[in-house]
Amino acid sequence: MLRHLIVPEDLSAAEIEAVFAISRDLQEKFVAGRRDALLPGRVLALVFEKQSLRTRVSFQAAMTHLGGSSLFLGADTGFASSRESIADFGRVLSEYVDAIVCRSKAHDTIVQMAGVASVPVINGLSDESHPCQALADIYTVRQAIGRVTGLTLAFVGDGNNVARSLAVVCGLLGMRFVLAAPQRYQFDEAFRSHLKAILPHADIFQTSDPVAAVQGAAVVYTDVWASMGQEAERRERVAAFTPYQVNAALMAHCPDAMFMHCLPARRGEEVTDEVIDGPQSVVVTQAANRMHVQKGLIAWLLGHA
Ligand code: CP
Ligand code: NVA
Repeated sequence: MLRHLIVPEDLSAAEIEAVFAISRDLQEKFVAGRRDALLPGRVLALVFEKQSLRTRVSFQAAMTHLGGSSLFLGADTGFASSRESIADFGRVLSEYVDAIVCRSKAHDTIVQMAGVASVPVINGLSDESHPCQALADIYTVRQAIGRVTGLTLAFVGDGNNVARSLAVVCGLLGMRFVLAAPQRYQFDEAFRSHLKAILPHADIFQTSDPVAAVQGAAVVYTDVWASMGQEAERRERVAAFTPYQVNAALMAHCPDAMFMHCLPARRGEEVTDEVIDGPQSVVVTQAANRMHVQKGLIAWLLGHA
């Protein structure tokens, strides 16, 4: 059956565990110097409307390691422009490749692409969701601590694409999720109702108190205050989020917590150098795990586990 990953809730908890199991196996082999060619001749297309380092390179390297190949399709293909419709683009691209990763400005663009594609479509970040990031992050927590159920992830910052996806993956896997943000940047009513509907028993809270959020947390997570596409709001966002900076004073309230950030970071804004470069930080490990988890995801989606 054709499956897509548009939002993390497209996967059940059991399916996430199945993806993680493949990822773990492939990661162990990779570390031991083995690169199993599970996907010979398979082609992954990456259609990107926004900048990327991690998502782009981790998917492209993953396909090469798995014996397949990838094509990066940037602005010169005319995707999501007046050149042709998203539907025509998606239908034709599906004839050439085995899976599509799409990074779009509007979430609906990826939804439209998945609606017409005859191959799996993976969301490589939209304004609403970043499922591959959240999967790799929770895989990283599991690897570091050995479990995730019952632990708390405190997200201190904007209730953005990354925060929303983390809330869902935490909810699916039994982790408590707390968002600390100024009220106007917390999850809106529509997303809160959606969370209640899909995860009625999940522990997902929001507060405007960053200290209360991090106390007892196993993970403190942050992301930029102005995401790609929100540059015009930068000044007002910096003013609103300054009390939410993740710095040594805030981390002193949770000395045993891991610090996470999806990167890229604006050092000196949402996080200080001292924290992101400090002993609690796992930001490079979580970026590295993007590749391992996406290998598991592609193998699972293409039925080659
Ligand atoms: N974290 C992340 O998705 O990074 P890129 O924007 O560089 O892909
Ligand atoms: N929230 C950020 C994440 C980048 C990986 C953005 O959308 O720009």
